[in-house]
Amino acid sequence: MEFSIKSGSPEKQRSACVVVGVFESRKLSLPAELLDNAAHGYLSDLLRRGDMEGKAGSTLLLHKVPGTEAERILLVGLGKEREFREKEFRAAIGTTVRTLNETGGFDGTIYLTELSVKKRDVAWRVRQAVLMVEETLYRFDQMKSKKDEVRRPLRKLIFCVERRNELATAEQALQQGQAIAAGIDFMKNLANLPGNICTPTYLAEQAKAIGQEHGLQTEVLGRAEMAQLGMHSLLAVAQGSHQPPHLIVVKYQGGKSGEKPIVLVGKGVTFDTGGISIKPAPDMDEMKFDMSGAASVLATIKAAALMKLPLNVIAVVPTVENMPGGGAARPGDIVTSMSGQTIEILNTDAEGRLILCDALTYVERFDPACVVDVATLTGACVIALGHVVSGLLANDDGLARELLDAGQASWDRAWQMPLLDDYQEQLNSNFADMGNIGGRAAGTITAACFLSRFTKKYDWAHLDIAGTANRSGKEKGSTGRPVPLLTHFLLARAARLSA
Ligand code: BES
Ligand code: MN
Ligand code: ZN
Repeated sequence: MEFSIKSGSPEKQRSACVVVGVFESRKLSLPAELLDNAAHGYLSDLLRRGDMEGKAGSTLLLHKVPGTEAERILLVGLGKEREFREKEFRAAIGTTVRTLNETGGFDGTIYLTELSVKKRDVAWRVRQAVLMVEETLYRFDQMKSKKDEVRRPLRKLIFCVERRNELATAEQALQQGQAIAAGIDFMKNLANLPGNICTPTYLAEQAKAIGQEHGLQTEVLGRAEMAQLGMHSLLAVAQGSHQPPHLIVVKYQGGKSGEKPIVLVGKGVTFDTGGISIKPAPDMDEMKFDMSGAASVLATIKAAALMKLPLNVIAVVPTVENMPGGGAARPGDIVTSMSGQTIEILNTDAEGRLILCDALTYVERFDPACVVDVATLTGACVIALGHVVSGLLANDDGLARELLDAGQASWDRAWQMPLLDDYQEQLNSNFADMGNIGGRAAGTITAACFLSRFTKKYDWAHLDIAGTANRSGKEKGSTGRPVPLLTHFLLARAARLSA
């Protein structure tokens, strides 16, 4: 989609469609009122006759309204004015795009970005509008032999701002929104691919492709190099698969050369059968999404490069396939991690932490400003938090706060859980330094406790995205989360640096 920003009167727009909002009980938004005045009460007249109430989700499409220049006017219902918040704003943009897409128009001039949303500025509204447009239009049909033939003439959207002095801010927000949307698109396409195509080797190729495209340094370690480094925990997970494991490293250097990097680590299990502790059959296909953390950190570094953020960022992806082949690790096997700590693999399905722990030791060499890992780590997180917020655990409260704020700012929210020492004992093992599972109680916390044993040398946070990375059922597919959160975290860090 092509986007631009504009400031001007709605009645004067020569557009295929001008979009304005109407609140419940027929209250016109300001741009709608301007149209109504120019049309000598045409809109208020329709509303009075009951053609539209202004209920959220409702629309009314009008053609050639007298006194106005556009071919069409689309009225979008916004619901009650005092209940109009982030969620309602996003829904209104979604409704707009779906409706515009069904008209014959080539472009749309959208005045909804002028609406006031409590505590949100024009930059927020523009960024969110871009993200919602792309979210609404996204289709994954790469694997279908016949693509759904959607007649889609809509090509260009213009977001309007009330005042000319908002144009520059809105332009910048538009560019950021488009960069973030490109990241989200990249993540979704990667995560939606099936496990037979998106293998660890495929992920490595995609990382190299981003590197090429954006001039980033990319390195991919293979089995032999990882063995040399002592990553026997990671390698144990790969043992049961014919797919070779990789450790992918992508570096974006937008900051000063001496500046410590922000390191993002993403779980890249391209398919999780559970291994010998095999998973039950229902919905196992969704375990192709077990590389969502990996896809999200690659997507985020891509977006950072597109935004040319003045930061150094490194994405690290341990990637394997978890299969129950003849060489697979057995429950009870003991491995030595790169850190030197030994692990009793009590359940081969708790494989995410086994690959992450070695990656988290590996990143010490970058002397990171902070490390954030992202993983579809525990089913327990879905039970605790559902599909609304991602789980957040951290060994540093400042970093946790930044991520929570970024989640709030991007409307890709996270919720903090306690990383208390009291939970650590659940990982005790009779035979090794630790087991890889901590029992049924507090599964998300004990998984983070396990990781915390490998992150003592730096500020670290962990995002458990098991409930938020993808949708199930009829709407099955990647959500692109937590790319909005991660990119806003980087944006805020960049702003802090330049302040
Ligand atoms: N990839 C799964 C976690 C998961 C479950 C993600 C459901 C999305 C939806 C992870 O590797 C896993 O299997 N975790 C186990 C851990 C357990 C054995 C301690 C789980 O959650 O059951
Ligand atoms: Mn698993
Ligand atoms: Zn997994």
